[in-house]
Amino acid sequence: MVTWQLCELTGVYCLLIVTAQLLKKLGCVRDEQFEGVLNKISQEVDRRKHLGVTSAQRAAAIKDIYRPLHPHVYHLQESYLASEFKQIVEYCQSDSATEEGLLGLLEEQVAPRVYRFPLFDKSFCEDLMEELKHFEQSAAPKGRPNTMNQYGILLNELGFDEHFITPLREQYLLPLTSLLYPDCGGCCLDSHKAFVVKYDMNEDLDLSYHYDNAEVTLNVSLGKEFTEGNLYFGDMRQVPVSETECSEVEHRVTEGLLHRGQHMHGALPISSGQRWNLIIWMRASQERNKQCPMCNRTPTLVEAEGFADGFTKHSDPPQNISCALT
Ligand SMILES: *[C@@H]1O[C@H](CO)[C@@H](O)[C@H](O)[C@H]1NC(C)=O
Ligand SMILES: *[C@@H]1O[C@H](CO)[C@@H](O)[C@H](O)[C@H]1NC(C)=O
Ligand SMILES: [Fe+2]
Repeated sequence: MVTWQLCELTGVYCLLIVTAQLLKKLGCVRDEQFEGVLNKISQEVDRRKHLGVTSAQRAAAIKDIYRPLHPHVYHLQESYLASEFKQIVEYCQSDSATEEGLLGLLEEQVAPRVYRFPLFDKSFCEDLMEELKHFEQSAAPKGRPNTMNQYGILLNELGFDEHFITPLREQYLLPLTSLLYPDCGGCCLDSHKAFVVKYDMNEDLDLSYHYDNAEVTLNVSLGKEFTEGNLYFGDMRQVPVSETECSEVEHRVTEGLLHRGQHMHGALPISSGQRWNLIIWMRASQERNKQCPMCNRTPTLVEAEGFADGFTKHSDPPQNISCALT
């Protein structure tokens, strides 16, 4: 089998591992077709090389021309959080907190090491969606979250990082992930990429099976009315698909689902309505500095803007732990 490993180490990252076999399976058999695919890949590599700069330019333009409808949603407040969630966090912060104790407070695991819990208050979710819709309809420039989602909003460009996502990660999520995912960098999530995706009957309907560029992912259902479109989980990405059993997980509005980034997952198509989800890909530089979670190579880094892909130049001495294959 011929394997092309097209990892573009721009410091922004490694990109794709494409195997000739996979392309053949997808019906890509003639040279011109391979060329077409390679062309697309090199365009994507190019796009990613300039991502940092174009993103910073968009953020500046948004700040300049966009007037928020609900300025308050940009600043995290305790009142936005579900009381169950605040209790869970409080427990995690207590000196006697243990993983078993925490599991008792969370709803049952909906798939191996996938946890679901109420996160936000309903009216906050509504205000946030209104704000995002207002932004969508504005003339401000818009970047797109990734190659998988056409319809979505990058929250850092809109100015959500400093007063919302970072405090949410550091003060509220980290206490949970430290207990739940100590083997996957859960103790040391030091950056993130946050975006909102929209699934609509006329736009993106579903999301194929994949893993995330994250150590730990939080996916929150913000609303609105929809039917179907559940998330399903398989195994860790190192496990062959043929040995995988998938489990479907129901997602309810205002609830968050927490899972390991390398845990394979996908979304079933919605059958009516529209759904908005807030996704936070949380990264632990300590983990990814050792091995890039997308291509498994030792990352070669160049400087980038913002959190970029969550790698750092200097990290603590590597610990001898790795993500458990469960
Ligand atoms: C988040 O969960 C929803 C199900 O509520 C799913 O449709 C969606 O694809 C997930 N988003 C991502 C980016 O994984
Ligand atoms: C890391 O762990 C493996 C397996 O537990 C062990 O064989 C190896 O010697 C350890 N490496 C270091 C540097 O401690
Ligand atoms: Fe995902």
